[in-house]
Amino acid sequence: MKRFDADAVQEHELRHGDLVRRLAAECTLFLKYSGAFPVQPCKAALYGNGARRTIKGGKGSGDVSTRYCVSVEEGLERAGFEVTTKDWLTAFAREEKQISEDFVQSVRDESKATGTPPILVYYSRKEKPVCAYPVQEFAEGDICLYVLARDTGEGGDRSAGKGDFLLTDTEIEDIRALAGHYPKFCLVLNVAAPVDLSPVLDNVKDIFLLGQTGASVGDVCADILTGKSYPSGKLTATWAKIGDYPSTAGFGSRDDTFYNEGIFVGYRYFDTAGKKPLFPFGFGKGYTNFTAECVGYSADERKVEVAVKVTNTGNFCGKETIQLYVSAPSGDLAQPFQKLCAYRKTQELSPGESESLHLSFPTKELASFDEKAAAYVIGHGDYIVRVGTHSRDTKPIGMLRMETSATVAVCDRLHFDTAGLNEICVHQVLHPAAEPVICLRGERFSTEDLRVKEQEGAEKSLPGKGYTFGDVLAKKISLHDFVRTLSTEELARLCVGDFSAHGSAASMIGNASARVAGGAGDTCARLKDKKIPAAVTADGPAGLRLNTEYGFDAEGNIVSQGMVPEDLRVFAPERFAPVEIPGKKYYQYCTAIPVGTALAQSWNETLIEQCGDIVGEEMELFGVNLWLAPAMNIQRSPLCGRNFEYYSEDPLISGKCAAAITRGVQKHKGCGVTIKHFCCNNQETNREHSNSVVGERALREIYLKGFEICVREASPAAVMSSYNLVDGEHTANSEQLIKHILRGEWKFKGFVMTDWYATGGLKPYDGKYQSADCATCIRAGNDLVMPGYPKYYEEILNGAKEGKFDGNDLCDCAERILTFLKNCCEQGGLVC
Ligand code: BGC
Repeated sequence: MKRFDADAVQEHELRHGDLVRRLAAECTLFLKYSGAFPVQPCKAALYGNGARRTIKGGKGSGDVSTRYCVSVEEGLERAGFEVTTKDWLTAFAREEKQISEDFVQSVRDESKATGTPPILVYYSRKEKPVCAYPVQEFAEGDICLYVLARDTGEGGDRSAGKGDFLLTDTEIEDIRALAGHYPKFCLVLNVAAPVDLSPVLDNVKDIFLLGQTGASVGDVCADILTGKSYPSGKLTATWAKIGDYPSTAGFGSRDDTFYNEGIFVGYRYFDTAGKKPLFPFGFGKGYTNFTAECVGYSADERKVEVAVKVTNTGNFCGKETIQLYVSAPSGDLAQPFQKLCAYRKTQELSPGESESLHLSFPTKELASFDEKAAAYVIGHGDYIVRVGTHSRDTKPIGMLRMETSATVAVCDRLHFDTAGLNEICVHQVLHPAAEPVICLRGERFSTEDLRVKEQEGAEKSLPGKGYTFGDVLAKKISLHDFVRTLSTEELARLCVGDFSAHGSAASMIGNASARVAGGAGDTCARLKDKKIPAAVTADGPAGLRLNTEYGFDAEGNIVSQGMVPEDLRVFAPERFAPVEIPGKKYYQYCTAIPVGTALAQSWNETLIEQCGDIVGEEMELFGVNLWLAPAMNIQRSPLCGRNFEYYSEDPLISGKCAAAITRGVQKHKGCGVTIKHFCCNNQETNREHSNSVVGERALREIYLKGFEICVREASPAAVMSSYNLVDGEHTANSEQLIKHILRGEWKFKGFVMTDWYATGGLKPYDGKYQSADCATCIRAGNDLVMPGYPKYYEEILNGAKEGKFDGNDLCDCAERILTFLKNCCEQGGLVC
């Protein structure tokens, strides 16, 4: 760990900034491309709400406090463009400021009139005002760019209306007029989630999805427009009209949200129902064209393999991603038209150059979960193997004939309460036969037994007292035995975050760490006599969320501004008054990597791992042990306010991306990730008390699958359970999800923590579902209750007295947390 006592730009910032700028181009793509770009630096007429106030990433705990953010305006100027619309941009900014001040005032007025705290009034206002300052005249320009930005963030969902999911009337008029006037016009999208572009699609020939790619976003835009780099991303979610998503009806209900679409999420629905999206899953254009030819296909009961020769047939360098889908026959179980089974991206290909890509996946991945049999089954019949460059462009390249069905895994029969769920049935179109046909037989598959054996009650060995954690590190006593020397009080302390830290209002929004300024919280620091060190957590997933400046008071406590976002600060200036940093100041500038969705759009796991490496290096530098990321919930609906943090509507992509970034972070000594939010945190509305009602098949095949891939492939250090309930039970309290599936079936060896204040206590709630319960967390194996609060400790102690959990449960929870601390110590990431 290093403390930087000068505000000067550090070597790591430059190195990481350059790397992100270079990598980020791969996360971008054209949705429409006419060939008008790239261009040499020239006169640029620049408009739109994202031109000067370009967004680098989303808000809330997924935000990163960076030293700078390069806007598109700055990026263009740095690249040598002359921006001809400075006056318009200034007038727009003025008008936008006025609108936002009026909005703040109206919130204050309502608060005064109703007696509701202004922050709560602010949160209740779903529609935030949008600036409608129109284009007044056509400025001079060899090119014209209209940068459309959309801000999304934690704690609230998006609106389906104008100014968010829809374009405003002014935006539509301006974009149409500008596109008609300038021969080279590009609509640049500074968004992290779909927007309904249908009103302008016929007018605009070039649409560039810049996305939210971190602090160098404006430079990334300029690099692409000048051809210094090229886009090679592809969508990881379907872009469609809001009414066409099956998840729209009932989305964001306060109490119960019914996942009636079942497994038909995203392209699985659109492709099966034959509904045309605006832009399909997997779609994206770059500066060049490719051809793809299948040159190999083989399969047996273990593996399906396909080789595809990709050739760059255009005039620009580029990279292409080939996607392998399989259409399963509908038998007893409904099936989507196709599901993604593998994907692969080429290296950079020059014009005329070719590369053969090898795509493969384990044959058992063809299985569906049969709820009646509590087993994963590959039904008999014909499976069409398809290859393409997006979900609407897949061509059959062969067939797998399951002559008899196979049971590839058997599970325990679990019970999920799905009362009221009414899953839709979407009929699959008939598949034509495809050649060649490879025949497989069910009995040649092996069946994995995922049933969880009853654990033998661990022996209650009673080693002598007086040991410390240092003795564990010195191998004088095993960790298992050491834990059993601790008292119930000590164990309960360990299972609660370090509430001896500030514990003030500021910690509500994730900066409860007493060790690293802006860290989200620490593990228990009280057992000093036992020499147990505290681990520091910090948010993500777009980098590290820390305070940029801090100092120390006379007692050596960290003093910093806290991570209270600006838009909240204005509503309670007295509560969030500026903090005077005494004495010497220290600086922590972190790198903002592209948001989760943008990273996934690269379809490049090596790139994502490199971004994880950046985060890991900064964790080592600033003394953070656990990154509260990656966030990997499924983008069930484009209206979820936190989708920017998440990777995709598809579980394979989510899992592979999370595994890649996990590898990048965890190659650093003493650094671990926390995959979150486990699971079904697919809306922000009433997120602490909303119940996601989802059938077990959809739960396993869609919402859990990504977590499973990451756990099995990359061994993340920790998992964060979600705020919401699943089928009537808080995830943090669910033995089925944590003990049974996560630990039993997937063999997860790390520890589980709650989301911040998921166990309540901050404000009373009188709705249908209360908060998760601390004692039940221990019984379910949710080891750590974060960020810590006296009530949590007491609830666990009371739970122990009342027999709400077994003594071994508490020891096991503590042991799993201590295992992480032990690894950190052994790798030099923590000192005991
Ligand atoms: C978020 C988590 C985050 C935590 C700590 C919660 O509100 O849901 O994603 O890691 O705060 O800041």
